[in-house]
Amino acid sequence: MDGYNETDTVALNEETDSVAIIDQTLLPGASHTIELTKLEDMYEAIASLRVRGAPAIGVAAAMCIYVLMKRHASDDLSSFREYFNACSDRLCSSRPTAVNLSWALDRMKKVMSAAAAAENGSGDLDAVRAHILEALRTEALTIRDEDIDSCRKIGEYGLGLIENGFGILTHCNAGRLATVRYGTAMAPMYLAAEKGMEIRVYCDETRPLLQGARLTAYELSEAGISTTLICDNMASSIMKAGKIDIVFVGCDRVAANGDAANKIGTSGVAILAAHYGIPFYVCAPLSSIDMNTAAGDDIIIEQRDPSEVTDLWYSKRMAPDNAHFSVYDPAFDVTDNSLITGIITPKGILRPPYADAIKQVLS
Ligand code: MRU
Repeated sequence: MDGYNETDTVALNEETDSVAIIDQTLLPGASHTIELTKLEDMYEAIASLRVRGAPAIGVAAAMCIYVLMKRHASDDLSSFREYFNACSDRLCSSRPTAVNLSWALDRMKKVMSAAAAAENGSGDLDAVRAHILEALRTEALTIRDEDIDSCRKIGEYGLGLIENGFGILTHCNAGRLATVRYGTAMAPMYLAAEKGMEIRVYCDETRPLLQGARLTAYELSEAGISTTLICDNMASSIMKAGKIDIVFVGCDRVAANGDAANKIGTSGVAILAAHYGIPFYVCAPLSSIDMNTAAGDDIIIEQRDPSEVTDLWYSKRMAPDNAHFSVYDPAFDVTDNSLITGIITPKGILRPPYADAIKQVLS
């Protein structure tokens, strides 16, 4: 198998023709890998956040498409194509905000079309199918490798911003579990720790799904990094107390003007950081930058099930349940580019004005 690593968050298992993911809904209590082979299980795994974090979702979707096509026998090229489109559309609808999902599926589609066009008319369906599958496999593994490489580079650029003794705040989980291997916002922290620097990371618990408590605090403390968990509403108080020197967060989509969507609560953290004069950095692989979205207002924000707020972590419902009561549960918010000190990409740290910096880094 090509680079199969069972400790990766997402991996292609070619012995079983499946996509192997660490089921993040079970963490930190149990670290359990599940193998996905069917479209609906793949859809469910992404929609219910068994695999989550924008880059990890993109890699998973690319691998899922390859596995689904490999397992699909068809009579002719057009039904093979139709199946591809149906699977791609279904996976793409699982989570709307992270652009990495549609970005990865678009890449797979382009490869599929190019391979099919090259073989069109050959008449030998088995040969055409084999050619297309090899192209899809290579692209899925390339997307994975690019993710690993991007995260390492983001880590190196981010490391340059950290000084010994720093207190660092992060929100949600943009660590190894949100990518294939190193994470984006947490990659600089891993590198700082590797270099023997003293850092303390404060994790917002990240209501309502508690990615900060369940995943970030777990990941960092397991890696031997000093970690302090705080409720989301405590960030102001520790900033005021002078405990935070820098903020690193991930992102699900960066618009062409630098506005950045990330886990709900991120924009509040950015506003607090600006108030206290603390640098606020967004860590973004290039796959998270969406030039088709002009500004943050154009980003579709995923709405989640109210039960995540009222029931999920409680032995019995903790909120009223009547005709006058409702829950608002957006999964993401948008941080205005004016609040962002820098966007750390694999190609360097972008500084305002972001519209120009983004154009340049993508050119
Ligand atoms: O809903 P989630 O857990 O998928 O949200 C994840 C985040 O908001 C992350 O910060 C983002 O995807 C960046 S991960 C490198």
